Amino acid sequence: MSPILPHPLAPGPQALAHSERLRSEINRQIRQSAGWLDFSRFMALALYAPGLGYYSAGSVKLGAGGYFVTAPEMTSLFAETWARPVSDNLAKLQGQRPVVLELGAGSGRLARDMLLALAQREVLPEHYLILEVSADLRARQEALLTTLPKNLRERVAWCSSWPESLTGVLLANEVLDALPVHRVGWRGDHWVELGIALDREAWVWQERPLNDMRLIRRLPPTDPLPVPYDTEICLAATDLMVNLAQSLRAGRAYFIDYGFPEREYYHPQRHEGTLMCHIRHHAHDDPLHYPGLQDITAHVDFTAVARTAIQNGLCLEDYRTMAGWLIEQGMIERLGDIPVTDEARYLPAVSAVQKLLSPAEMGEMFKVLVLGREQTSSSALAMLGLS
Ligand SMILES: C[S@@+](CC[C@H](N)C(=O)[O-])C[C@H]1O[C@@H](n2cnc3c(N)ncnc32)[C@H](O)[C@@H]1O
Repeated sequence: MSPILPHPLAPGPQALAHSERLRSEINRQIRQSAGWLDFSRFMALALYAPGLGYYSAGSVKLGAGGYFVTAPEMTSLFAETWARPVSDNLAKLQGQRPVVLELGAGSGRLARDMLLALAQREVLPEHYLILEVSADLRARQEALLTTLPKNLRERVAWCSSWPESLTGVLLANEVLDALPVHRVGWRGDHWVELGIALDREAWVWQERPLNDMRLIRRLPPTDPLPVPYDTEICLAATDLMVNLAQSLRAGRAYFIDYGFPEREYYHPQRHEGTLMCHIRHHAHDDPLHYPGLQDITAHVDFTAVARTAIQNGLCLEDYRTMAGWLIEQGMIERLGDIPVTDEARYLPAVSAVQKLLSPAEMGEMFKVLVLGREQTSSSALAMLGLS
């Protein structure tokens, strides 16, 4: 395999040894599965194999020391802006002991800044629950959140599965894009499923006939598609909507992530799909490199996510670009509260806000999807092609 990274950025011997351990584990699983692993199982191992996967092992993943920087890592203004609708929701549910549930809390930065911002607004949740699949990240979250004042720290608790009943607000920033996806391909007269096989000891893509009914039901129309055409389907994201619908009694769920409606996701020009990998701030599209050392993500098909949520009884309350949503929630005014003369705070905050709002950066690629129990937004339905 040709090196993805230029020599000075290549991983050192310790990282490579770690990667080799994960490679051996994946090879064992390929052999156990008759020589072929569907891509979602491969991705699940590469990211979450206990103690070995990218998110489960001990490297720093997020923030300036990691390989990519998420919105909560850039500026506390992100959490402070999000805190407005969160506190409005919590206030409405007063008397029902509402909680916040954060999925996939990464370094814990959003949890910390959100709790501080909610305290300032004088609307605190009964508990701030975190559902995190990575033991390593959970330990990092615990370490960061011990720095909170006692009355806030005491509200934080981790859960290992979905709460049976949720009254409150669910937050998920860049979680859906980190869920394992299946990879499928259109070959002109039939669909295939793509998986990973071994050619001697090297990983190679291998196609199998597509026969999983859950994937077949989700295939896009083939009429305008070029050949070959490869893309992704994320069953884990739609399964998560079923969990949410079963759990949410009252309140709202916010999903912030990069992605598109179905018609853009399965656009003929996107013939290589949406997989993206990050290693050492270097982005590329080959998930077979450096197992355990690189992040693997796919864009979110927001139409599929919203459709499943609606089919399971939730209301699509909002869907818009992250820039539009953050502006509506008052991010610019919040930036204006920082004195221009306080350069140490103001300049990094301006640079982060510019990144979050600019259409050329995160502002339009990232979307906000809001699900709840109250009202349906007809414009959100129309944007997702669901009206
Ligand atoms: C790209 S990181 C984003 C972290 C953080 N939300 C942020 O914005 O910085 C994805 C996070 O989701 C977690 N995760 C992945 N699958 C999950 C699942 N099924 N349930 C809960 N968390 C999950 C990962 O361990 C990680 O913490």
